[in-house]
Amino acid sequence: MSYKASNVWIANLSHTFKKQVKPTLSDINLSIPKGQLTALIGRSGCGKSTLLQMIAGLMIPSDGAIRIGGHTVTKPSAKWNMMFQNPSLYPWMTVRESAALGLVFAGTYKDKKDKVEDLLDMVGLSELKDENVQKLSGGQQQRVALARSLATEPEVLLLDEPFSALDAFTRTTLQNEVAQICHDQGITMVMVTHDIDEAVAMADNVIIMSQNPGEIVGDLKVNFSYPRDRNSEEFIILKEKLFGEFEKIDQAKQKELLEMA
Ligand SMILES: Nc1ncnc2c1ncn2[C@@H]1O[C@H](COP(=O)(O)OP(=O)(O)OP(=O)(O)O)[C@@H](O)[C@H]1O
Ligand SMILES: [Mg+2]
Repeated sequence: MSYKASNVWIANLSHTFKKQVKPTLSDINLSIPKGQLTALIGRSGCGKSTLLQMIAGLMIPSDGAIRIGGHTVTKPSAKWNMMFQNPSLYPWMTVRESAALGLVFAGTYKDKKDKVEDLLDMVGLSELKDENVQKLSGGQQQRVALARSLATEPEVLLLDEPFSALDAFTRTTLQNEVAQICHDQGITMVMVTHDIDEAVAMADNVIIMSQNPGEIVGDLKVNFSYPRDRNSEEFIILKEKLFGEFEKIDQAKQKELLEMA
C-alpha cells in the first residue's frame, strides 16, 4: 500500500487500552486520497472516536502507523484539524475572535484577517461577526467552530459526530454545506458517525467498522454529485445497502458468539 498518493495513510494499526486484554482496534489499514470525503461508520463503542483521535495525533496507537501528507502523526497539528460534537467556544469571545483563534495561536492573524471575514461570510455569519458567541444558537456556534477549523487551511478536516446535537433541519443544512465546502476547497475529510443518512449525504467513501474488536469490514463508494438529493432512488438504495451491511455484521457476530458458547 502506497502512502505517497494518499493524504491519510493508516497501516496495520491496532490498539489495546491499558489494563485491557482485548484490543479495541485491530489491524486497521486505510488509504484515503487527497480531497476525498470519508465517513467511518459503526455502532456505538466500536472505536470510531479512538481511531479519529489517533489520526488527529491526540492518542498514539499501541501498534501501527499513521501518516498524513507523508508525515508520521505523533502530535496534533493545524494541518489536521479536529471538529467535535460540541463547538467548544470561549464564552467571552465574539464570533470573529473565535473564528480567528487558530490563526492568532499560529501568529498569522494579521496577514490573514480577510480570510476570517470570507469564511464567516461563507458559513452564513456575516451579520453576527461582532456578537458574543453566547448569543448564538447551537447551529450558529457550530458554524463558528467550522470557520475556526477552516481558517488555518487544514489539509485534513476531522469531524467527530459534529452535527449530532443539532435539530434535524440545521443538521441537514450543515451536512450539505460542510460536504460542499470540503469538496470545493479540496479538503480531505474524515468524519465519524453512526448516522447512515449523514454518511451517504456527505461522503465519497463510507468505511464500515465492526466492534469487539473495531475492524474495517467493508466500504461503499458514493458517486453522487453535491448537493445530494436525499429523496432520490439512488440515495435510498444506497442507504438500504448500508443497512444490509450492518445486518450482515450482526449476524456474523451472533454466529461467532454461538460458536464460542
Ligand atoms: N481511555 C480509555 N480507556 C479504556 N477504554 C477506553 C478509553 N477510551 C475508550 N475506551 C473504550 O474503547 C471503546 C471504543 O470507544 P470509542 O469512544 O472510540 O467508541 P465510538 O465508536 O466512538 O463510540 P460512540 O459512537 O458511542 O461515540 C469503548 O468500549 C470504550 O469504552
Ligand atoms: Mg465516539
